[in-house]
Amino acid sequence: MGDAAGSFVIKQFGVKPFEGQKMGTSGLRKKVKVFQQPGYIEAFVQSIFDALPEIPGSGMDGRAQSAPVLVLGGDGRYFNREAIRTITRLVAANGVGKLLIGQNGILCTPAVSAIIRARRLSGGIILTASHNPGGPNADFGIKYNTGDGGPAPESYTDVFYAKSQRVSGYRSACTESDADPFASVNLSRRGSYTFVDRTAATERRFVIEVIDSADDYVALFRSIFDFERLRALLRRPDFSMLFDSLHGVTGAYTRRIFCEELGAPPSALRNATPLEDFGGGHPDPNLVYAAELVALCDPKQNPKAPEFGAASDGDGDRNMIIGRGFFVTPNDSLAVIAAYAERAIPYFAGGKLVGVARSMPTASSVDRVAAKHGLACYETPTGWKFFSSLLSSGRAQICGEESFGTSSDHVREKDGIWAVLCWLSVLAYRNVDKTPVGSLVGVQQVVEEHWREYGRNFFTRYDYEECDADAAHAMMQHLEEYQRRGDMSLLERGYGDKVSVADNFCYTDPVDGSVARNQGIRFVFADGSRIVFRLSGTGSMGATIRMYIEKYESDPSRVDQDAATALRGLVQLALEVSKLPSFTGRDRPNVIT
Ligand code: G6P
Ligand code: ZN
Repeated sequence: MGDAAGSFVIKQFGVKPFEGQKMGTSGLRKKVKVFQQPGYIEAFVQSIFDALPEIPGSGMDGRAQSAPVLVLGGDGRYFNREAIRTITRLVAANGVGKLLIGQNGILCTPAVSAIIRARRLSGGIILTASHNPGGPNADFGIKYNTGDGGPAPESYTDVFYAKSQRVSGYRSACTESDADPFASVNLSRRGSYTFVDRTAATERRFVIEVIDSADDYVALFRSIFDFERLRALLRRPDFSMLFDSLHGVTGAYTRRIFCEELGAPPSALRNATPLEDFGGGHPDPNLVYAAELVALCDPKQNPKAPEFGAASDGDGDRNMIIGRGFFVTPNDSLAVIAAYAERAIPYFAGGKLVGVARSMPTASSVDRVAAKHGLACYETPTGWKFFSSLLSSGRAQICGEESFGTSSDHVREKDGIWAVLCWLSVLAYRNVDKTPVGSLVGVQQVVEEHWREYGRNFFTRYDYEECDADAAHAMMQHLEEYQRRGDMSLLERGYGDKVSVADNFCYTDPVDGSVARNQGIRFVFADGSRIVFRLSGTGSMGATIRMYIEKYESDPSRVDQDAATALRGLVQLALEVSKLPSFTGRDRPNVIT
């Protein structure tokens, strides 16, 4: 690992503010072409560095003893490497002492969180647009995570945005002739490089370390799961698995984790080479975009269908779990993980699990587990950020959302591979040293037994994308008024049960007292069944209406019904109450999950 030392000077360049450099908690997401405008990235990243010294606790507010250390990496999508080169020069010029970069510029989102936490860094920059497609005509994104490993909250992103509106120049590390002083850094090999900043009166050093993308993340998993038992499961001749990375970033991790550490054969991995355009696909693990995996796991279509199938998204924070011809809803996945955590996952053993949390539209399967196991249960607005305070204050350890996100307090992001390892742990717990070869308890049996024990929360989500924004808002307004009027006779007659809650969901964070209003209209029946409407916060064209329908069934003899059949009546009722078809002119959703 030869040190390739060099030097640089910091130069100032003029730049004009760009419109709309407003980061949500999932970062600044735009078309690649937008990011490719000269000065665009520089203006935005400089705004971050202009903001951080003004944010108490940012690690760059001048209170730290030593120069801050940051980590940088991305999901490998188109423009990843160019962005890394540009950002590295700004990082060097803005007082950072050391920058860790994932090998080949690759780091999955939960691994960045793990690295920040394990190494107590000041923060990190993640280059990703999550599950959005990649390529020259698709999306790119920049996200900033703070010292706790989680996405920068609004108290940060508001200042970033304010700075971006006034930015007039940026600082960049240069050679005398304005070239990249770090051109000698080989991102494809691990190594450490020390550079001397010759601008400074006192000799300042800036270190770039190209780190293994997986080491910290794998070490964390070793401390959470019982790898020996997982290996024993994977050794069984009656067990096989298929992990589809959809050409996203987890391809850089799955060989190491599932093959080298746990002994899965290479054939267990699909689409495991991260590609800049995700192979032209949509790297989102669900029944629509991971249809190939779903077909391969269906014994009717593939006689060699594996017992366990999983997929993850572009940056590795979302997950989908399936069995042989059997889809596990994210709601049920969360509930099953919570139900088995203490017994099947060493990290949660000995009473460490005291609470769980789900977003409001997520079906309440996990609530039943919490009630039975004596766990606290929190219902938060949609958006992973709402789990942060619960996780950090120790109120909840396991969280999940219907949008294919599941994770725990081991990081401050959703974690796709973690969810898969949880499921393997559940299967190992049920089978290793317990079932003879040939009578493996599989995914479907685990879930069906769970339904019989806790009841089943049938669930479906209808997405109406690119609706006229005015029409969508008018429909929400209509529901708001309906809910306020309080006459629930139409719903009660239609469903045959009392409505126990009708409101516009409002959340008060139990830790910091902050209030989030208008988080979705919900009608909850006395038996726990629900109709929920909200507008998506992530759509980019017009408005996306999401309609969530949940029906609780406690009768064990009725839990195996087909979900669409079980939900049909409530779906019709929801359409009737909302008048969605007449408001929007849409007679069917774009996607049903
Ligand atoms: C992102 C967030 C999730 C959220 C999802 C759906 O993935 O990280 O927390 O559940 O978007 O949001 P939407 O507003 O489109 O329903
Ligand atoms: Zn993602």
